[in-house]
Amino acid sequence: MSDTFTPASVLVTGGAGFIGSNFIHHFLAGNPGCRVVNLDILTYAGNLKNLTAVQDNPNYRFVRGDICDAPLVATLLDEERIDAVVHFAAESHVDRSITGPEIFVRTNVLGTQTLLEASRKHAEKVSNFRFLQVSTDEVYGSLGPVGYFTEETPLAPNSPYSASKAGADLLVRAYFETFRLPTLNTRCSNNYGPYHFPEKLIPLMIHNILQRHPLPVYGDGLNVRDWLHVKDHSAAIERVLKKGTPGEVFNIGGNNEWKNIDIVKLVCDLMDERLGRFPGESRQLITYVKDRPGHDRRYAIDASKLKRELGWEPSYTFERGIAETIDWYLANQGWVAEVASGAYREYYQAQYGNR
Ligand code: NAD
Ligand code: DAU
Repeated sequence: MSDTFTPASVLVTGGAGFIGSNFIHHFLAGNPGCRVVNLDILTYAGNLKNLTAVQDNPNYRFVRGDICDAPLVATLLDEERIDAVVHFAAESHVDRSITGPEIFVRTNVLGTQTLLEASRKHAEKVSNFRFLQVSTDEVYGSLGPVGYFTEETPLAPNSPYSASKAGADLLVRAYFETFRLPTLNTRCSNNYGPYHFPEKLIPLMIHNILQRHPLPVYGDGLNVRDWLHVKDHSAAIERVLKKGTPGEVFNIGGNNEWKNIDIVKLVCDLMDERLGRFPGESRQLITYVKDRPGHDRRYAIDASKLKRELGWEPSYTFERGIAETIDWYLANQGWVAEVASGAYREYYQAQYGNR
């Protein structure tokens, strides 16, 4: 474990998205002396309503802008005297990467390289600096029924999304090896929790159950994902930022594997209890649909390095986390209704209309 790195001014990219906004809430609460600048272009996935609780915090600033805009990034790094970049900004949805891969390469690869290059120049001017790349277990590809991804597992991405994230991770590695930019790279499993955009499995199912719409399960429903509460992911990122040795990769996972069909049934049953529907009512909405092309069969993370070296472990049981998440969506139906209007309807029709 390296000495504690204590940033005074952090640039968070993509902080209006699902994980970035949760991270900002978490980080501002735990680091009252630190300034947080949030650079986000506000794509369909970015939403300032995710940040209303912090918008008046004097230590917080929002900047609408593009991570590919090199002059803007350089100006922000300098004028805000940034000593750490925590890089969440991305195109994040696998299905969208299948229908439109180009923007994934631009944002995830070129955007990361733009940030790295600006950071490289800026790091020469500050005494201590970190660049933390928030990445995904999907860069490792797909597992069979047994085994786990470790940090040594070769990268073998299968979707345009995961390929673009792997490209970004390799650039991060190259900036450490070539320029000694103090980088860190985390790779996390599937997150769930508040502010999750309803294109992703869990919030999509919650939203459709509320509407009594069909619940589209891809293929045979037996693909496996490891689910981690977004607040545990946020805490893990903070730990890696402060304690991780530059140049290292850290896997983050929940040790919480679920087959998709089982998680959909669980969400159905928890929703039925809360909505006063009869037991099994929402399960009747389950509809098996055409599989996702190149659909990775199983992800499972070995996060023992993070536990052993930095002492991080998840704090949420899945039972508590999923119950709280469903309660959050029920208490925030206005948020869901707003993000699920307009362009979301067109997206949903294009993805699921003929499936
Ligand atoms: P998200 O899609 O909810 O949010 C992405 C954010 O990035 C949005 O606010 C969007 O406006 C912003 N953004 C996109 N392009 C930008 C650009 N050019 N300039 C500035 N901002 C831009 O994503 P998420 O689910 O919160 O994921 C955040 C990060 O975590 C991603 O890098 C993703 O690969 C990674 N990750 C996600 C998960 C998961 O389960 N969601 C798991 C592991 C890793
Ligand atoms: O593993 C980390 C990754 O998790 C992140 O890097 C990605 O950004 C994030 O989107 C997520 O990727 P997945 O593809 O695993 O998540 P998604 O919610 O899209 O799908 C989860 C599983 O559920 C997957 O096996 C596909 C399936 N699925 C998904 C949707 C949206 C369905 O069966 N039906 C659906 O409608």
